[in-house]
Amino acid sequence: MRNKVTIVGSGNVGATAAHWIASKELADVVLIDIIEGVPQGKGLDLLEAMPIEKRDSAILGTNDYADTANSDIVVITAGIPRKPGMSRDDLLNTNYKIMSDVVGKVVHHSPNCILIIVSNPLDAMAQAAYKLSGFPRERVIGMAGILDSARFRAFIAQELKVSVENVTAFVLGGHGDTMVPLPRYSTVAGIPITELMDKATLDRIVQRTRDGGAEIVKYLKTGSAYYAPSAAATEMVEAILKDKKKILPCAAYLNGEYGIHGLFVGVPVKLGAKGIEQIIEIKLTPEEKAALDKSAAAVKELIAVINV
Ligand code: LAC
Repeated sequence: MRNKVTIVGSGNVGATAAHWIASKELADVVLIDIIEGVPQGKGLDLLEAMPIEKRDSAILGTNDYADTANSDIVVITAGIPRKPGMSRDDLLNTNYKIMSDVVGKVVHHSPNCILIIVSNPLDAMAQAAYKLSGFPRERVIGMAGILDSARFRAFIAQELKVSVENVTAFVLGGHGDTMVPLPRYSTVAGIPITELMDKATLDRIVQRTRDGGAEIVKYLKTGSAYYAPSAAATEMVEAILKDKKKILPCAAYLNGEYGIHGLFVGVPVKLGAKGIEQIIEIKLTPEEKAALDKSAAAVKELIAVINV
């Protein structure tokens, strides 16, 4: 039996996620959007690339949620992206309306799926999807930490001129200006980066990581990043479909972990066939805990606006 992954939203993030998933032959892919023609066109184009890529993934573009029935995973990328000068939070009300419409339809056709939320503002949209779906928290996961830590890893590798494969990095907290990169838990071949670079360099990299999304928006002008965000969502899809039990930073609904109650925040989780199989609690210093609490408070402010 082949796995089935639906991607909601055929914009840059959605279509590129379809590309990564199909080219890794992880699943058959349904690409759905309310815009007529775009998912069909991009889906067909991708399908026609499969003989060259030597992959048997089937790709279907559609406007009809009946085609998404019984998906194992549904990745929601639908929503408007930010423009220069906008923060992710400026997207809140528009994307919440879109999320409300999408989640109802997704859940109706795939009641047992795992939801991966990619739309911004990420943590608030994950919280909305969790409440709207009625799913257990194991099956609603927000993508952000992998993206933020991939940016951190890329900058560390560039600075130290080492392979990206050697670099492990952790970023906790919400996907916003208050995210919490954790140098103490970031290593190069097991060596803490705090031993490999001076504080000024590290601070500069941490700040660039925090501003990573905005840096790309500034270049693109008409939208936000999509290669790294879609690659991050694909890593989550792969960990779940292959039941890898992979520990990755994701937005998860906390029920007291890290002293946070009833809120989506980025933390390390174990991803496997059941979705979130464990929330890993690491010991934080008082400063790190304060930064995480500040990040959680920022998420809380947003969800109060949409009342979820
Ligand atoms: C970013 C946006 C997509 O971080 O949230 O690039």
